[in-house]
Amino acid sequence: GKVGVLFGGRSAEREVSIMSGTGVLAALRSQGIDAHPFDPAERSLGELAAERFDRVFIALHGRLGEDGSLQGALELLGIPYTGSGVMASAVGMDKITTKVLWLKAGLPTPAYAVLHDDADLPGVAATLGLPLIVKAPREGSSIGVFTVNALDEFQAAYDKCAPLDDAVLVESFVTGREFTVAVLGTGATARALPVVEIVAPKGNYDYQNKYFTDTTQYFCPPQLDEAIQAEMARIAVEAYRTLGCEGWSRVDVLLRESDQRPFLLEVNTSPGMTSHSLVPMAARAVGLSYEALCVEILRSARL
Ligand code: DAL
Ligand code: MG
Repeated sequence: GKVGVLFGGRSAEREVSIMSGTGVLAALRSQGIDAHPFDPAERSLGELAAERFDRVFIALHGRLGEDGSLQGALELLGIPYTGSGVMASAVGMDKITTKVLWLKAGLPTPAYAVLHDDADLPGVAATLGLPLIVKAPREGSSIGVFTVNALDEFQAAYDKCAPLDDAVLVESFVTGREFTVAVLGTGATARALPVVEIVAPKGNYDYQNKYFTDTTQYFCPPQLDEAIQAEMARIAVEAYRTLGCEGWSRVDVLLRESDQRPFLLEVNTSPGMTSHSLVPMAARAVGLSYEALCVEILRSARL
C-alpha cells in the first residue's frame, strides 16, 4: 500500500524531525515500500486525506506531531499511524503528567515541583536543594532545559522556560550516569532493547551534543552490572505500559551514583531516528538494522 512519512512539522524540533524523516523515508524505500514524504507544516489535513495513504509513519517530534493532536486527526481521518495513541502521546509529551502517573504506579522519578509563577524560587530551591533542573514540560531534544547551581541562575532559567508553556517543571538534580532504553511492541509483548549509555562532553547532553557534534560517546551495551541493566529495562517497560504507550518509544533514565538506583526522566513517544539517534543504535546491538527497524515500526501502525 501507499505509505506516508510525516516529518518536519511546526515544533521547535522541526530540524530534528527533518533528519529523522529523511532517514526513515530512505530506509522504507530501500525495502521496496511505496513511501512518500508529507510535511504537515506545509500541507493541510485535507491534502493529507487526499493522499489516501494506507498508513503513515510519524517521524515528527514535539508539539502538533508527537503530542496527540496529530494522532487525533489521524483517528478522525481513519489512517493507521505508528506509535502511541492520542492519550499516551499527550501524556508522554508532558513531563509533569508523566511523573504523576509514574509515581502513582510506584516508579522512581526525581523529586519535583511545578511552578506557575516565580514568587518563591528561594523556597523551592530550599525544598528540593541545589543544583536543580528547570524544564519547559512539553519540549524535546533538551530545548528549554537548564541546570541551575545558584539562585540567580534559577531566576534566569525560570524566565527562559515560562514563555514556552503554562507551567515550569523543576526537578532535583540526580548525580550519576545517563542512559536510555528503547521499547518496542505493545501491551504484553512490549520489550526493551539493550540499554544505551550516553557520555556527553562535561555531562552536557544538550541539543548541540545530541545531533551536531561527534564528541558525545555512546555505549551499547554499557559497562554496567547486568542486574542493574535488567532493572533499568524492567522499569522502562513498566513506565511504557503505565502510560499506555504503543508501537515504540524511548525511555530516558539516570542512574544515581550514590546508591546505583535508576530514576526515570521521561518517555519519548516519537523518538529521534537521525544518524546520531539512540533507538537505531540499540536496535543494531540486537542485529536489527535501521531499515528493518523502520519496517517493524511501520508494521505496528494501527488506529
Ligand atoms: N525528542 C527527540 C527527538 C528524542 O527524544 O529523540
Ligand atoms: Mg524528550
